[in-house]
Amino acid sequence: MSFLELTNVTKQFGRLSAIEDINLSVNQGEVLGIVGPNGSGKSTLINVMTSYYRPTSGSIYFKGRKISGLRPDKIAALGIARTFQSNILFEGATVLESVMVSAYLQYKTNNLQSFLRTKAYRDEYEKIVGKVLDLLKMLELFNDTFLPASGLSHGYQRMLGIAIALASGPKVLLLDEPTTGMNHEEAMFVVENIRKINETGVTVILIEHNMKVLLDLATRVAVLNFGIKIAEGKPKEVMNKREVIEAYLGTETI
Ligand SMILES: Nc1ncnc2c1ncn2[C@@H]1O[C@H](COP(=O)(O)OP(=O)(O)OP(=O)(O)O)[C@@H](O)[C@H]1O
Ligand SMILES: [Mg+2]
Repeated sequence: MSFLELTNVTKQFGRLSAIEDINLSVNQGEVLGIVGPNGSGKSTLINVMTSYYRPTSGSIYFKGRKISGLRPDKIAALGIARTFQSNILFEGATVLESVMVSAYLQYKTNNLQSFLRTKAYRDEYEKIVGKVLDLLKMLELFNDTFLPASGLSHGYQRMLGIAIALASGPKVLLLDEPTTGMNHEEAMFVVENIRKINETGVTVILIEHNMKVLLDLATRVAVLNFGIKIAEGKPKEVMNKREVIEAYLGTETI
């Protein structure tokens, strides 16, 4: 069994199958691109992989363990983190505070110890602040550490969303259209950061409409159309397949 595996996964809303009978293997360390026209089921796929939705049928396995049916926080704790299609920020928080909240998920010291300000708590706190600052440096958000997150430009806010997801120390990172609404320069900033993240060993699943971004990053691509996986393989080959081009015909996203 592969690192992360979906077997016969279907999610229905009423009579509509948002995704239908999806079989998908994700390899450790890869950047798997998920593409498809609007409404083809891409976000639903991420939502079932992270238990935001429960699959109507089928199963999902992570490192051989069945994870479908677990609570979203349990899945996050196992090492699967995600971003959302729109920016979500903590009101009034600085960049540092926003990422710290997520980093606390890894915090092992219990509340009583933190109340008593034990040495274990102080050591761990120092370690976490250090990690968060390293993360902000790596993602080139360091200059904004003490700024209110709400004051960042759209591109940097989306990058902050990725930093927040990453601060929980995931093994798998699921990104839902990370470059939406960005100009070329901002999109390339995000591309470079996703590459760096992947190079640290994080497996990336990337929903992306921007073909340049997709072809730059993805080592493999799966294509959805009306909730069905219609193609899978090397990015350039897959995007040139007749059925993939036809699926996109009449849409303005390619
Ligand atoms: N919570 C929901 N309730 C009812 N229908 C839903 C829900 N979420 C998604 N759908 C439907 O499921 C289908 C797939 O939606 P989904 O958001 O997964 O598509 P997508 O590929 O992410 O689209 P986009 O490119 O626009 O983000 C659509 O027909 C959508 O209307
Ligand atoms: Mg979507």
